[in-house]
Amino acid sequence: ANALRLGVAGLGTVGASVIRLLDKQGNRIAVNSGQAVRVRAVSARDKSRDRGVDLSRFSWFQDPVDLARSDEIDVFVELIGGDNGPAEASVRAALESGKHVVTANKALLAKHGVSLAILAESKGVSLCYEAAVAGGIPIVKTLRESMAGNDISRVYGILNGTCNYILTRMETDGISFEDCLADAQRLGYAEADPTFDIEGNDTAHKLAILTSLAFGTKISADDIYLEGITSITTADIQAADELGYRIKLLGVAQRTDSGIEQRVHPTMVPKSSAIARIDGVLNAVAVDGDYVGEIVLVGPGAGGNATASAVVADISDIARGDLTPVLGMPARDLEDFTQAGMRVH
Ligand code: HSE
Repeated sequence: ANALRLGVAGLGTVGASVIRLLDKQGNRIAVNSGQAVRVRAVSARDKSRDRGVDLSRFSWFQDPVDLARSDEIDVFVELIGGDNGPAEASVRAALESGKHVVTANKALLAKHGVSLAILAESKGVSLCYEAAVAGGIPIVKTLRESMAGNDISRVYGILNGTCNYILTRMETDGISFEDCLADAQRLGYAEADPTFDIEGNDTAHKLAILTSLAFGTKISADDIYLEGITSITTADIQAADELGYRIKLLGVAQRTDSGIEQRVHPTMVPKSSAIARIDGVLNAVAVDGDYVGEIVLVGPGAGGNATASAVVADISDIARGDLTPVLGMPARDLEDFTQAGMRVH
């Protein structure tokens, strides 16, 4: 078969890692999936920036929408970010012109995931987003495919690497919130606008996607009780420590008799619990299924290479011809979200 031709839009931390990973593992993906994959074209804001990868071998598109529509590509890889603007316009353009899409954009999916899924399904193409939730952890495939036979009662976890890195270092190294955040930015963990990390919005975006996958409901990010970590002080962390607890930013979604409860807030977790031992940029996601019991996945939740690992897994799925429904069932059949009465702390 001819090689699957990729267009990569957005060449920040994740985009550059994706190019490097495909350079390194392209052959393995061809063997595993039965089809070669090649980056054919790229798009980014600044052509001249040195990213440590040779871009001269690719076609260059200044406008990602032009790349998304281009006949040169079969798969559009969106790594721009943001829930509107060029990311949304280019993803829609790619799907409308019959291209598969791989994205790491949780904000976009939290806001427009259902309409994009309907569009993808109407065009018979894939919309893949393993990298959008918990970085390198394969939680989308786990919920959608591996746990397909289970009724799920709860999904929860640490879904933001930047916050977990900040909370961990404030506790173990006694470093100020601001300095920890600056380090997380330098390490490529934080969002372009890090207020999305520390105010909890990024966790909420990811939780909204997990809720839809777990419960078969429409994505409903606005119905999340939201509190970030900006008011947590070193004194709070020390006080929790003396009582035998650690503070973690958790996202929790569970089915209740009155509907589905979704919440994001700092939580005191007993030091003896597994979740208390998830340190640094690691994320953890726990899922309760009625047949399998509780599954917990742990791994790097942010960073270029871990996120690129998930992007490339999606590319490999597309090369194999996988057309699993985007949200686990045809998007038109998703139930309306019914919010449980709020019962927080
Ligand atoms: N800023 C995000 C985080 C990146 O820190 O988890 C991964 O989605």
